[in-house]
Formats: sequence, C-alpha cells, structure tokens
Amino acid sequence: MRKLTTNLPHGLRGELQVPGDKSISHRSIIFGAVADGITDISHFLPSSDCLTTVRAFAAMGVPIKRNGDRVSMHGIGFSGLRRPQQPLDMGNSGTTARLLLGVLSGRPFSTRLFGDASLSRRPMRRVTDPLEQTGARFAVSESGTLPITVHGRPDPSPIRYRLPIASAQLKSALILAALQAAGESTIIEKLPTRDHTERMLEAFGGKLRRNGTVIRVAGRPMLRGQSVTIPGDLSSAAFFITAAALVPGSNITLHNVGVNPTRTGFLDILKKMGASITVVNRHGRIEPAADLRIRSSMLHAATLTEKDIPASIDELPLVALLATQAEGITTITGAGELRVKETDRIAVVSEELRRLGADIVELPDGMRIRGNAALRAPGDCRVSSHGDHRIGMMLAVAALITRGSLTLAGDNAIAISYPNFFTDLTQLTGDKRGVVQ
Ligand code: S3P
Repeated sequence: MRKLTTNLPHGLRGELQVPGDKSISHRSIIFGAVADGITDISHFLPSSDCLTTVRAFAAMGVPIKRNGDRVSMHGIGFSGLRRPQQPLDMGNSGTTARLLLGVLSGRPFSTRLFGDASLSRRPMRRVTDPLEQTGARFAVSESGTLPITVHGRPDPSPIRYRLPIASAQLKSALILAALQAAGESTIIEKLPTRDHTERMLEAFGGKLRRNGTVIRVAGRPMLRGQSVTIPGDLSSAAFFITAAALVPGSNITLHNVGVNPTRTGFLDILKKMGASITVVNRHGRIEPAADLRIRSSMLHAATLTEKDIPASIDELPLVALLATQAEGITTITGAGELRVKETDRIAVVSEELRRLGADIVELPDGMRIRGNAALRAPGDCRVSSHGDHRIGMMLAVAALITRGSLTLAGDNAIAISYPNFFTDLTQLTGDKRGVVQ
C-alpha cells in the first residue's frame, strides 16, 4: 500500500534516463544463451520479469553473471541447453513463458513450466497449437493455460503459419522454434508487431527474409555472442510522457528511449491528440533510440481502431487516462487483446478510473471515454493495481491530476517492469508527499 502524490501544484521538470526495455532485455538473454560465446549486455532491465528469464536459462546450464544493469553470459547454443532439475517458474512473465515454449519445442527433453495466479489465467494454446507443427507435444491444462509440460522434439520440422492474432510473443515463439528446424519456416503476421526478435536474430548472425507481414526464417544458423546495448523502455517512458502532457507547466526530457517504429504508436496517438513531443538526437545500431522532450498542452479526443493497436498495446491504459482530460470523446476498438494481459485491462482501467470520476464505457474490444473529467478522490479513496504493474503506474500518474487523497493497493506489482518507478517519478515531480520511505 502506498500513499500517492495527488493534485501536483506545479509541472514536472528535468531530465531522466528510463531503465532498459523489457522486451529487448528478455530477448538479449535468450539470444545470448542460444548463441555461441560471450554476450555482454548493458542497460539490461533488472526487473522481476526479466530476472525470471535469467533464472530459467541459468537453470538450463547457461553461465550468466549480472551486476546491476550489466550482464555477461557464455552462450552454449541450443544444443547445449540442459534439462532443468526443477520445473521452471515463469512468475508473472508472459514473455518468458511464451518465448521459452518456442525454445523448448526443439530440445530433446521434457520440461514443466508454471506461473503465478495471473499468468496461469493467460491463454497459451495460441502458442502451443502452432508449435505442434514442429512435432513437439504439449500437455496443457484443460483451460489452455499454464502449467504446461513441453515434450520437445529433437529434430523439429519447419513451420508454416498465418497468425490469427497480432502478437509479438507468439511470432517470437515461432521464430525461436524455426531456428532449430532443418529448412526454412514461413510465418505470416496479421498486423506488424514489435520486431525486436527479428532485429536481434540478425544482429547475432541469423538469416531472415521479410516482405511486409511475411517472415521467412532460415533454420540452424550459426549464432555468435554479441555486445548488446539496450535502449530505455518507451513503455516505461510513457508514464512520464503522460504525466508531463497532463500536468500544466511541465517540461521534461527523457534520454535514450527506444523508438523502434513498431513500438511508437503511443507517440503518434499523442501527437494526434495535440501533445507537444519532440524527438531529437536519434541514434542506435540494432534498435533505434532518441531523446524525447515533452511539454504540457491542451489535448483533444482520438479514435483508435484495430490497426493502431499493436504499436501501442501496452500504452492503452495511458491513452484512456489522457482521454479523460481531452476535449471530446475518445473511442478505442479492435483492442480485445487487452482482456488477456496481466489483468483484463479494459475492465480494470474502466473500474479504477471511474472510481476517480472518469466517464468510461467498456466495449467488448475497447473503451469509450468522455473527456474534460475533473478527477476527484472522495474521502480516503483507495485504488488498486490488481497486481498489474502497468495499472499501478497509470494510477500513480492519474493521482497527480486528482483532487483529494489517494492510496494505491498492490503497488509492489510495479517491480515487474520498473523497480525504481517512484524514485524516478519523484525526480521529475520534485514532490515527496507520496513517497513512502
Ligand atoms: C511483448 C508483446 C506484447 C506486449 C508484451 C510484451 C513482447 O504481448 O503486450 O508486454 O515482448 O513480445 P502480445 O504478444 O501478447 O501482444
């Protein structure tokens, strides 16, 4: 439980470097493990989700040393991975679980994966069904969720699969399986999703042919360890971007934020809503990064449909919050995937923001949000993360523009992706009222 800073009387100011990207951190460990030789990673995200991936590969015999946000590991190739002594704990991490299913599908042993209560509700057949094309077999619980026992196939077959949903986790699991097959696999996306796996595979020496949404993956490449520098996570920066856009008088700069075009949908939506965002100092080798300058401004409503969703999926709770303060009615549709994230984010965002006086209607695959809402915390108001890191951080930002006093239950979930979130927020707000020492 944490008391939040409410009704911030002045804007956010200053500069910050946000922690490393979560999606890229997971992938750097996976490729570092299945390549041969040394991989050195800097600006790794040491959050609980990414440490779940580190522990899983360490349990399969990969030597990994970590010192803060620096990781040094000795890759042993797919063939060097050993059967773990114990079932692997996936914690809360959907990315670890799904990508690992792809890795394990081609290994000649059986492994059991399990997760926490939230992860054990999330759909896994979307991954195991297409992976059966390789010849691997999966014992999945009745509900199509973890726990799952993977019976890997020693000599897996290539895959040809058209994804029925836009999911980078599913695509990545299939690519990781395809790398172990003799021959070429073809994976066709429904809509383009984050391409961190493809970029990292190429950087480690793998071969891909990409044509629109069609990805052809060459099996059994020689992968060699690399030096990887991970950019700041745009999905973490998004909380401060939102806060600065909403709190009058704000003017902040966020350094070295990942701006891979498959991830920047949130910036495009914000610009359409009238936010003041400047992208400067572009750099980066495997992944593009830049500095972002954000100033507060008046916002207007936006309409988001299915094609806008993959590049902004994790930021949609923040779009909903921004929409409560914009002029007009914002509609988000085609975002049914939000219902199977760490929580049902359509239900939870609506429920928690309504508690503060927002006018939000739940749609089967999105939300309709009326703008110009005066957010208020009646009495001693309590909001909850429901155990979902992104909901917890969104509510901490909502509090900055809420009148009254507010406590956040389940704030510990924030460590899943951003252990130092409140320290960094305080650095920009300069206001220690909400900080519990
Ligand atoms: C991720 C893909 C997305 C995203 C998640 C991270 C990844 O999930 O929501 O936070 O690293 O590949 P889906 O693949 O389920 O859309």
